[in-house]
Amino acid sequence: MAGHEAAHWKIEELDFSRIARAEVRQDDNLFYLVACASFIESGSDLYTQNLVDFFQGDDEVTAWLTRYWEAEELQHGKALRAYVSHVWPEFDWEAAYRGFLEEYATLCKVELLSPTRGLELAARCVVETGTASYYRALARSTDEPVLRDLATRIATDEVSHYKHFYRFFRRYRQEEKLGRLRVLGIIGRRTLELKSEDADCAVRHVVRTRSPERAGDAAYVRQLSARINGTVRANLSPGATLKMLMRPLELPARVETVIQYPIRQFMEHVFLR
Ligand SMILES: [Fe+2]
Ligand SMILES: [Fe+2]
Repeated sequence: MAGHEAAHWKIEELDFSRIARAEVRQDDNLFYLVACASFIESGSDLYTQNLVDFFQGDDEVTAWLTRYWEAEELQHGKALRAYVSHVWPEFDWEAAYRGFLEEYATLCKVELLSPTRGLELAARCVVETGTASYYRALARSTDEPVLRDLATRIATDEVSHYKHFYRFFRRYRQEEKLGRLRVLGIIGRRTLELKSEDADCAVRHVVRTRSPERAGDAAYVRQLSARINGTVRANLSPGATLKMLMRPLELPARVETVIQYPIRQFMEHVFLR
């Protein structure tokens, strides 16, 4: 397992000088996509402690969370922030992030964890599926090579996180004798939550610093969120996302084919709203 992590990429490997800055600067949508992601990633340490506490005594999980997972999520935040600062240096990232963090901290509560460790791991698989899909979509949505490169690197990390959580999940699934229905329940609930609070919170605080005169304009903020979601949605590859979401159910291939249709309908309902 150390092999992959040892070879983890570095922010210095990104060549910001290749960015056609004057051109990219015009792309307001891109600004919001990158800035919002930088906030949520940078806030990762808020819930790492919750998770570590929840898995206290399981050294394999807690060691991986603190040594690799948290470090990689924070690096995502740092790299995205560096991108924002390079292209939009006038944006006061620090100030906006401070406001975001204050509100975000109230959203990351221990009570939000799932009832058992196994179910929480299934939920983490959903979250990593969501982030992997987001960055894959982000990479597809732009032809700016440096952001493409960065988003692809991050997406690869998110898939690797998913694989770790999935491996841990399988261990607990046996221990806790989790039935498919309970797992399906968690997957469904978390999928519904994917595009909610966190992202909205980030958008609001980015707007507050970027265009303070519009911060109180709820319709504008809603419209902005819808536009960002629209970009992600248009570039999603639902097949890959669906596969990742369904994997913790460990269904026989025959059943998977049957159940795939209603789940796809459900996903489209969630993502296309
Ligand atoms: Fe991340
Ligand atoms: Fe992740």
